[in-house]
Amino acid sequence: MTAMRAVRAHERGGPEQLVYESAPRPEPGPGEALVSVHAASVTRGELAWDATWTDSFDGTGADRTPTIPSHEVSGVVAALGPGASGPPAGTAVYGLIPFTRDGAAAEYVTVPADLLAVKPSGLDHVRAAAVPLAALTAWQALVTHAAVTAGRHVLIHGGAGGVGSFAVQIAVALGARVTATASAADREFVRRLGAEQVLDHTADRFEDHVEGADVVLDLVGGATQARSWSVLRPGGTLVSIVQPPDPDAAASHSARGVFFVVEPDRTGLESVTGLIDDGRLVPVVDRVVPLAEARAAYEALEREHRRGKIVLRVSEDDGGD
Ligand SMILES: NC(=O)c1ccc[n+]([C@@H]2O[C@H](COP(=O)([O-])OP(=O)(O)OC[C@H]3O[C@@H](n4cnc5c(N)ncnc54)[C@H](OP(=O)(O)O)[C@@H]3O)[C@@H](O)[C@H]2O)c1
Repeated sequence: MTAMRAVRAHERGGPEQLVYESAPRPEPGPGEALVSVHAASVTRGELAWDATWTDSFDGTGADRTPTIPSHEVSGVVAALGPGASGPPAGTAVYGLIPFTRDGAAAEYVTVPADLLAVKPSGLDHVRAAAVPLAALTAWQALVTHAAVTAGRHVLIHGGAGGVGSFAVQIAVALGARVTATASAADREFVRRLGAEQVLDHTADRFEDHVEGADVVLDLVGGATQARSWSVLRPGGTLVSIVQPPDPDAAASHSARGVFFVVEPDRTGLESVTGLIDDGRLVPVVDRVVPLAEARAAYEALEREHRRGKIVLRVSEDDGGD
């Protein structure tokens, strides 16, 4: 057995379960690529998702421990399994790994080859790893579920976070008018991302500033979601990535409520790559942490203020151009 360094959890729990240790290096099966990981990034809530621990979505519900977290990868294809159709060995790639597989907090990961996209040439691996989950979530929310087009007014709750910093930029790139909520300290930052108006969620009542919005993108949940119906126009759409909107509330406001979980999708990621190549989408990296300190990265997600993503550096070769 060939070994690699990896971050694994042997029992379900939080960051305290994560151990940096030696693990078997995976072999690419049919249709899979073996990726030499250069950088991976971490997402708030990931260790609480069933899919991190079991085959909950698409399988039997079987326990997958020991499990490797961190499902956004940037790296280089090391080998292809039988029948794999995707970028050939030696190609710098990035992608979102399905949640019911091991993630990329390791030196190597296997990924269905057809989910990998060529890494944007202008991004090093660290910045590329900040993209797949957060940008695809924002893309699918705005394009697939809310059908945002030019001239629409979109309210984005949590505009400074991992998903929010992409959502603001993508909505602007689609030609929408963007209002975002964020902490006061993030007001200028979110304005620089392209938001027309940024409301301090600790001081401003967004209901006093927004009316008739076409779309609300809820990246926060709870009372923020419940209060959002009143700012939508009739026929408007509330998309949440945190919790399913109440169907009765949607009906009483003549609005549509959508909850979804992001899906790995090479075509969507290639659209995101196009925006990056055009300079219309810039990943925001809050900090870079060595793989061995992944536990601290997950702890920081729960307690510290951030702008954008926390990225794990796995290789010193950053692949920058
Ligand atoms: N369904 C899916 O497919 C999917 C995909 C990705 C993520 N998620 C979930 O979506 C959520 C957001 O993810 P993320 O990675 O973007 O998290 P994040 O990086 O922690 O960002 C959340 C942002 O929301 C801000 N915020 C907190 N309370 C707020 C409020 N009341 N009003 C406005 N802004 C507020 C935070 O600001 P402060 O730091 O100043 O508090 C932070 O900037 C998480 O719960 C995550 O698990 C779901």
